[in-house]
Amino acid sequence: MYNTKAYSAASATSPLASTAIPRRDPTPNDVQIEIIFCGICHSDLHQVRNEWSTIMPTVYPIVPGHEIVGRVTKVGSAVTRYKPGDLAAVGCMVDSDRTCPHCQAGLEQFCPKMTLTFNSPDKHLGGVTYGGYSDSIVVDERFVLRVPANLSLAGAAPLLCAGITTYSPIRRWGVTKGKKAGVVGLGGLGHMGVKFAHALGAHVVVFTTSPNKKENALRLGADEVVVSRDANQMQKHTGSFDFILDAVSAHHDINAYINLLRPDGTITIVGAPEKPLAVSAFSLLIGRRNLSGSLIGGIAETQEMLDFCGKHNITADVEVIPIQKVNEAYERLLKSDVKYRFSIDMASLKSE
Ligand SMILES: NC(=O)c1ccc[n+]([C@@H]2O[C@H](COP(=O)([O-])OP(=O)(O)OC[C@H]3O[C@@H](n4cnc5c(N)ncnc54)[C@H](OP(=O)(O)O)[C@@H]3O)[C@@H](O)[C@H]2O)c1
Ligand SMILES: [Zn+2]
Ligand SMILES: [Zn+2]
Repeated sequence: MYNTKAYSAASATSPLASTAIPRRDPTPNDVQIEIIFCGICHSDLHQVRNEWSTIMPTVYPIVPGHEIVGRVTKVGSAVTRYKPGDLAAVGCMVDSDRTCPHCQAGLEQFCPKMTLTFNSPDKHLGGVTYGGYSDSIVVDERFVLRVPANLSLAGAAPLLCAGITTYSPIRRWGVTKGKKAGVVGLGGLGHMGVKFAHALGAHVVVFTTSPNKKENALRLGADEVVVSRDANQMQKHTGSFDFILDAVSAHHDINAYINLLRPDGTITIVGAPEKPLAVSAFSLLIGRRNLSGSLIGGIAETQEMLDFCGKHNITADVEVIPIQKVNEAYERLLKSDVKYRFSIDMASLKSE
């Protein structure tokens, strides 16, 4: 065991602050990574503030962060795919049982024994796992991913959650040329959804509550932008979408979007607001529409997404911040004031 620098929160109302946390010495299958960048996902904020207390109560202290890129510093004796000096990445999961039907199907995210990167029981050290707002992390090589060499590291970090969470449902529901796809909420997830749907050739419409994001949405690849608080603009799209991705972090009226689907169209929820969303049965009945959800993606699909990003030169648009600005960044995230992901430069932690 060794200690590494990190930022943690002591309670739902405490700011994140500098601390030291234990990491295990690499076992034969482990890769030790020095973290270079870690993205800030809205899920970090939900969990730091215990907003998902009914589903997965937060254990304190919490070290969030699951959009991790870095460099391999050490590998265990049985590791074959990584060596010291390689670039490596870690997303939302660090382990699973590898034997259940979900793991066999490459859907580790549904494994009943899946270990999340933070706030999950830690099989090695006891307590809970600690995430990427830290200097280093030790992860089984099966949960380590390769970062294409042509991508900027700061912009690649958010692919590990925002990237896979949007790529997976967009692929699953066949978003491609000739399809009309909507993205609700132009935040970290939403802006990646726009990039993927655009790269796949769909006609992309962004729904935003922030009129000032319009120009950026077009630059990111949207064909149209709708300010969702404008009922007239919404009305024009009634019954026309093949697919809509709902990436909103807060309470909102999902029926307004279900009504925009054409018959047999699908809306997939990836946003995880604290409180349940009310669904009008009639919105679904009329047009036999589908309401679905999606949770990150499996390890193989995450690598597929990273390779797709390498090929199409896709990264997140990031604002790089030092770790010392993380609490300020959380407040800005709540105001939808980030274009479009904060990426923490972990070199800043060395001065703590
Ligand atoms: N399913 C999964 O596997 C998964 C993975 C990662 C994250 N998530 C969840 O996905 C959600 C989005 O995460 P994120 O990191 O992309 O968050 P984010 O960067 O904060 O983006 C959320 C966006 O939602 C919109 N929004 C915020 N408040 C709103 C309100 N009151 N009404 C309508 N729209 C509002 C804003 O877009 P506009 O300004 O354009 O309106 C905002 O930029 C979070 O709940 C997160 O926990 C789920
Ligand atoms: Zn996330
Ligand atoms: Zn399993």
